[in-house]
Amino acid sequence: MDIRLLRPSDIPHVQHANITNLPENYFMKYYLYHALSWPQLSYVAVDVSRPKKTPYDYPRIVGYVLAKMEEDPPDGVQHGHITSLSVMRTHRRLGIAEKLMRQSQRAMVETFGAQYVSLHVRVSNNAALRLYRDTLGFVNEKVEAKYYADGEDAYSMKLDLGYIRELIMDEEDGETEDLDEGEPVGSAGAKGDETGKSEVNGEKMRKVRVGRGLGVGELVERNESQKA
Ligand code: ACO
Repeated sequence: MDIRLLRPSDIPHVQHANITNLPENYFMKYYLYHALSWPQLSYVAVDVSRPKKTPYDYPRIVGYVLAKMEEDPPDGVQHGHITSLSVMRTHRRLGIAEKLMRQSQRAMVETFGAQYVSLHVRVSNNAALRLYRDTLGFVNEKVEAKYYADGEDAYSMKLDLGYIRELIMDEEDGETEDLDEGEPVGSAGAKGDETGKSEVNGEKMRKVRVGRGLGVGELVERNESQKA
């Protein structure tokens, strides 16, 4: 099984999976809007066990997550939204949905600095509720009455992505351990512990990378007592 980013050429197959698995369906242009506006956030699960016989064989997409960033968040907080998620019946309970969700959530933080992710789910959808609440840790925000076209209510759910930010920082701290930073210079060069944390003039400091997008690997210290 290959979990990879959704490509525009996957869209007809994702649309097919969506129509097969869910009553909430979308026009092709809505998928394109996601793929072109937030290409980092939507993923597909491809069954690679079936060998390609010709270059024209299309990929067998057995699951997808279609996700976006909220463009004008009413609460002013940068956050992602899961528009649709489904896995073909033949491939359920293999951890595919969980993996798709975690990939998208991480990309929301890494690429757009999302603080949380939201979604809607039918109140009767026990499988999805178990996945969101018990496996991924979403919490129920409110019930939106008659949210769906057939009159069913939706749970509006939310997951704080702070733990992913921490995870990414910890991973980067691990990377910095291998770097040769030369001899410490003055208080700015004060030695931290093995996690990269240190104290300068009583203030908690943590080593962070800057200019990653530009490929600049310089290290600076950020004052952790001030909110970003
Ligand atoms: N019953 C109970 N718990 C379940 C079920 C189920 N049928 N399916 C998943 N879970 C829970 C379990 O805790 C599971 O862990 P476990 O297998 O170790 O017990 C955990 O979720 C992870 O399950 P995955 O294997 O990752 O889930 P799967 O790949 O099977 O996909 C999904 C789950 C997406 C809900 C699938 O059943 C599906 O496609 N259903 C139809 C479409 C759908 O309802 N999509 C969600 C709509 S809401 C939205 O799109 C925002």
